[in-house]
Amino acid sequence: MRQLLLRPQLYQFAKCRDFAKEFEVGKGDLVITNEFIYAPFFGGLNLGADVLFQEKYGKGEPSDRMVDAMYGDIKGSYKRIIAIGGGTVLDIAKLFALKNVTPSVDLFDRKLEIVKDKQLVLVPTTCGTGSEVTNISILELTSRQTKLGLSVDEMFADFAVLIPELLENLPFPFFATSSIDALIHACESTLSPKSTPFTELFAYKAIEAIVSGYRAIAKDGESARIPLLGNFLRASCYAGIAFSNSGVGAVHAMSYPLGGKYHVPHGEANYAVFLNIFRHYMAISKEGAIARLNAHLAALLECGTDEVYDRLADLLAKILPLKPLREYGVTAEDIKSFTANVMEKQGRLTANNFVPLDAGEVEAIYNELF
Ligand SMILES: [Fe+2]
Repeated sequence: MRQLLLRPQLYQFAKCRDFAKEFEVGKGDLVITNEFIYAPFFGGLNLGADVLFQEKYGKGEPSDRMVDAMYGDIKGSYKRIIAIGGGTVLDIAKLFALKNVTPSVDLFDRKLEIVKDKQLVLVPTTCGTGSEVTNISILELTSRQTKLGLSVDEMFADFAVLIPELLENLPFPFFATSSIDALIHACESTLSPKSTPFTELFAYKAIEAIVSGYRAIAKDGESARIPLLGNFLRASCYAGIAFSNSGVGAVHAMSYPLGGKYHVPHGEANYAVFLNIFRHYMAISKEGAIARLNAHLAALLECGTDEVYDRLADLLAKILPLKPLREYGVTAEDIKSFTANVMEKQGRLTANNFVPLDAGEVEAIYNELF
């Protein structure tokens, strides 16, 4: 069994200008980013690259409509795609490194030939998706009201670049939802049947950095994250390395219909279902990987293994309040359709569940959170 695949070369720079200099960013590059990131950090560098601002094509998480509109506006031909942004920007850029991109719904339905014809450089500006080291792009397919992932090796970056400076302007709510996503990547990774000692190494290190960082924030306030941004950025990357190999499971599977229909930010949608799913896992099996994870969490949270999810819930509530599903607009009818979506459409993810969850179990988890 393969133990670990790590494709992009990893770089870290203290400052954006150091990255721009070493990578010789300029003519022949297409930079996909947001203006609120580009202007303060790169605007004064006069790079000479073409720049596409994602937010001009719609708010929120990436959709097929957004991708098609952006791709339609590209005029030149480029040797490199450089994405500087959150998960949305990075996921879109992965598609743009391919030769055939639109209509993107056909790409996701595997009706277009997948050929990579440009170099890809991914620079994350949030600390959650780990997208810089994964080969997955997630799009909302507007007409189907759900999210779908496309995962092909042609979408691995050539270079992943970590620049903690870029996180300094990230507002706390975005920091919270993205870092919780990273924590969930790491936790789900440890429970996947495809987890290995090598993925565990990265996953546990990510959990350690995020939980200890959250404890510092819970104690000293939101500003306590600032000196820890490099740790959070690396933790997100570690978690990305882990789940890129092991996959993520039920938490992501059950959050996709919620995110797709009610546009709940990805990390927040995951958080809404996270601990209840782990409690259900425990009710089915207390042995093996989940026992190791709980022991690890207990040491970090300084509590007994039987109370880790309660203590983790207390800690996470200080970072991001947990809301019942109905507060996002979810209805009793949705629970039936969400359950059907998970059982029928999310098999790519549910194959990575710690233990199988049947439709009754999935519905019960949603109902308890309703
Ligand atoms: Fe995620």
